[in-house]
Amino acid sequence: MTLVVAGEGSRPLATEIATRLGAPLVNAELQSFPDGEDYVRIPAPVSNADVIVVQTTYPPRRLWQLLLTLQACKEGGARSIKAVAPYLAYARQDRIFKPGEALSAKLVAQALGLVCNLVLTVDAHKEDIRSFYNVPFINVGADAALAQELKRLKVQVILAPDAGAVERARAVAERIGAQFDHLEKKRISSEVVEITPKNLNVAGKSVCIVDDIISTGGTMAKALEQLKKNGAREVHAACVHGLFIGDAWQKLRKAGALEIFGTNTIEGPFSRVSVADAIVAALTAKVPAPRA
Ligand code: R5P
Repeated sequence: MTLVVAGEGSRPLATEIATRLGAPLVNAELQSFPDGEDYVRIPAPVSNADVIVVQTTYPPRRLWQLLLTLQACKEGGARSIKAVAPYLAYARQDRIFKPGEALSAKLVAQALGLVCNLVLTVDAHKEDIRSFYNVPFINVGADAALAQELKRLKVQVILAPDAGAVERARAVAERIGAQFDHLEKKRISSEVVEITPKNLNVAGKSVCIVDDIISTGGTMAKALEQLKKNGAREVHAACVHGLFIGDAWQKLRKAGALEIFGTNTIEGPFSRVSVADAIVAALTAKVPAPRA
């Protein structure tokens, strides 16, 4: 029997997934002790069940709650345990940038590998983190989900904020027959970025910048300003994972964004695109073999 367990951070998405799979849904119980430690319990038997735990990992404390939920399934005797972490925390620290740093993405992979048989995420920051996993790792694209919304908005040009993100822009653009390009970004600090001016063919057009993450909104705001300078008629901001920290969305509005949206890998006021179909398609497809 397949059972979907919803973590507190992803209940609506877990409900959609369970409905599409025709599987029962259980909400994991979550409590916090006075000292801040988390308590998790699955209020249904999981013995011999094929369990799918759905829990985002933003804010980062949700990662620990996900690990506890997976461990509860393991202790309860589940036959198989799949972790659906639609947004995977710490994925940006995927290599040692300066000597002495922790390799956070690797530790997350190792910890998840202790308590589940498969990890599925959506649009991991870099595909390279796959090599850290000793269980099958599925990285689902959000391009189809985003493309539907961009088609509705009649967007003509899709832009990536930097060269590293251009494949996502291309994937989305090709689905709706739009043009695509990328900007050149230089990160000065965690909150400050520079976008190099570039000649773009956007004058009079409806343009959307598509990034994997909107965190402080600094990258997106600078990119929007650049497009306005290039004469775009209307500009929109889209992402897969909308963290929208602090005044991020106000920054985007100030920079001229008409529509701001992301997916439900992180639930929030802007998560109006669902990745449930993409996740269910991946869960029901043949699972790739574990890395040797
Ligand atoms: C960076 O490599 C990511 O793709 C995003 O561009 C970045 O995380 C966005 O951060 P912020 O919104 O703080 O500029």
